[in-house]
Formats: sequence, structure tokens, C-alpha cells
Amino acid sequence: AMSMSVKPAMNVAVTGAAGQIGYAALMRIANGELLGKDQPINLKLIEVPQGLKPLKGVMMEIQDGAFPLLNSVVGTADLSEGFGDADVCLLIGARPRGPGMERKDLMSANASIFKDQGKAINKSAKKTAKVLVVGNPANTNALVLSANAPNLDPKHIHAMTRLDQNRALGQMALKLGIGVSDIEKLCIWGNHSSTQYPDITHATAMIDGKKVRLSDVIDSKWYSETFLPTVQKRGAAIITARGASSAASAGNSAIDHVRDLFLGSGSAWQSIAVASDGSYGIPKGLVYSIPCLCPGDGKFTMVKDLKVDEYSKKMMSATAKELVEERDMVRHLL
Ligand code: NAD
Ligand code: LMR
Repeated sequence: AMSMSVKPAMNVAVTGAAGQIGYAALMRIANGELLGKDQPINLKLIEVPQGLKPLKGVMMEIQDGAFPLLNSVVGTADLSEGFGDADVCLLIGARPRGPGMERKDLMSANASIFKDQGKAINKSAKKTAKVLVVGNPANTNALVLSANAPNLDPKHIHAMTRLDQNRALGQMALKLGIGVSDIEKLCIWGNHSSTQYPDITHATAMIDGKKVRLSDVIDSKWYSETFLPTVQKRGAAIITARGASSAASAGNSAIDHVRDLFLGSGSAWQSIAVASDGSYGIPKGLVYSIPCLCPGDGKFTMVKDLKVDEYSKKMMSATAKELVEERDMVRHLL
């Protein structure tokens, strides 16, 4: 479709495009929710060869959406074609876990995917490309990708913990009987796994027109015995209930992440798993979720110099420890 917009089209590559998350996210991406309602896009949909047939059906449906912002769509199993000149890479394609598995049990099946894709992105994508890894174990996959894509700045290679942040916001808003946008500065530290630390020590809520500290209104027993495990184990609870891992909410959070990165989200904190610069005693280079500010245009800054209490320190180092162990498992790919 021809676009009347004056902006040049941006290239968005999506792996695993015929999977569940891909199916849930692609219509919204084509509709302008990823990069803005005035931003034309070229979609490059990447699948493994056996995924190309269902992908063809997804592409037919995208065509039937008649999206004004959609400049072109290609479907391919060829990584250099798929990642060619990419501005944004959404790396979703990977095996999901089933009941009873931890996400790191996917390591041997999935981590090597990100070595090949890192090399291909390194060769074919724009040097300024922004990469979001969704496929699990997301943090360590992003680490593998980064090690294999030296042309890209590691700070532009992210793993997704926005879903965890959204889950935490949803639970907290429900508990307090307020809206999610009444809550600020709630963030996720560390791994997208059950060791993640959903931190409320900096958070505030607007209650009856007054801004209060969450820690002053939230019962610490509810926090540690209900809230924390609910958020940490939400992925597994969805697998149990649905018989398949979260898809629409995962796609939604990936869109939130990239949209805020490009369009900005002002003073709001957004959790981004990205190579640590050593802040907060997190080992340098680990892909570790940290609160960030997103001013727009693909940029972000980490929130630094926060006061970290003893409990937080313990939680933050436990999830870092797990990421160090995961890194040791993929040494051969780095
Ligand atoms: P799915 O099995 O429905 O779809 C995955 C798709 O990826 C399939 O179509 C498959 O053919 C394709 N694929 C596999 N290997 C590929 C490769 N090397 N290149 C391109 N495509 C490839 O799975 P899903 O439910 O869409 O989940 C995808 C991944 O996202 C899983 O690893 C899942 O655990 C993860 N996930 C992460 C989060 C998060 O918050 N980070 C949330 C939900 C799911
Ligand atoms: C999620 O958090 O829903 C995903 O990471 C899928 C999973 O395995 O939990």
C-alpha cells in the first residue's frame, strides 16, 4: 500500500513470526502501535523453513488488514534477507517452555539460535538497529546475541522484562483499587525468571488525590507472600491455565517496550534488561533488568544512584547470581 506519510519507512524484522506471540503482535505492529501512527514500516518476517507455510497464512491476513502504514511485507527463512537494513529486530522465534519447566531449561534448545541471529544481524542490520529479545531464556539469549554482534552497541540489545513490570503493575493496581497509571517507579531488577526482583521500595501511588509511598500502604506480608511470588511465577501460572505460554500479553509488552524506546515515555520508569555497566554492584556485561528513562528516538538512560536497602541488595544479587550461572552455561557461544 502507498503511504501518504512523508517519513521514510522503517524496517522491522520479526523472528518467530508464525508463532503465537507473532500472531498476537503483528496486526498491532502493522497498525502503527510499535513506532507511531505516522511511521510507515516494512515488515520482514523470519521463520524456520517449516514455519514458512503457516507464515504465508499470517501474511495473507496481514494483507487483509489493509494497513495504511504498511509499506511492504516479506516472509523468509533467510537471515540476511530478513535482517537486511533492519532498524528494529524483535527476536521472538524460539521454543517456549511447557508445564514444570524453568525458562533456563530452554537454554540448550534456544541459546544457539541467538548466536546465528547475532552474526546475521551484525552483518545485515543497520549498525544503529535496536534489538529486543523475547525468546527465552531472554536475558542470556541477549547476552549470546551481543557477543556475536560486535558491530552493534550492546546498549541497543535488550531482553524483555516489560511483561514482568506490567504484571507487577496490574497486581498492585488491583490490590489498591486504583489505575495502573496511578503507580510510578515500580521496577523489575535482574532476570526474566522466577528470581526476578519486582521492587516497590521507590514506587509511589496516587490514592485519593494524594501521592503516597507504596511501601507505606502495602502490607509487607502481602508483598512477600502474595505479590512477589505471583509476579515471579506468573508465566508458569499462565502455562498451567492456558496450556500454552503467554502470547498476547507478551506481544503487548514487546510493543510497549519498543514504542517507549522510540516515542519516549517522559519521566516514567521502564524496566529494560540490558548489559550492566557495573552499577549497583551488578557484574559488568550481564544482561540485567534495571529501571530506565526513555526520552525517545531509540535512546534510554539507566536510573542511577538509587538508595538500595538490605532486602533489595539481597534480592538483586540473587538474580545476578542466577544470570552468572546462565552465562557459564553458554560460555561456548560467547
Ligand atoms: P511458538 O512456539 O508459538 O512460536 C515460536 C515460533 O518461532 C514458531 O513459529 C517457530 O517456528 C519459530 N522459530 C523457532 N526457531 C526459530 C528460529 N531460529 N528463527 C526463526 N523462527 C524460529 O512460541 P511463542 O509462544 O510465540 O513464544 C516464543 C518465545 O517467546 C518462547 O521462547 C517463549 O518462552 C518466549 N516468551 C518470552 C516472554 C518474555 O516475557 N520475555 C513472554 C512470553 C514468551
Ligand atoms: C512468560 O513470562 O509468560 C514467558 O516468559 C513464558 C514463560 O515461559 O513463562
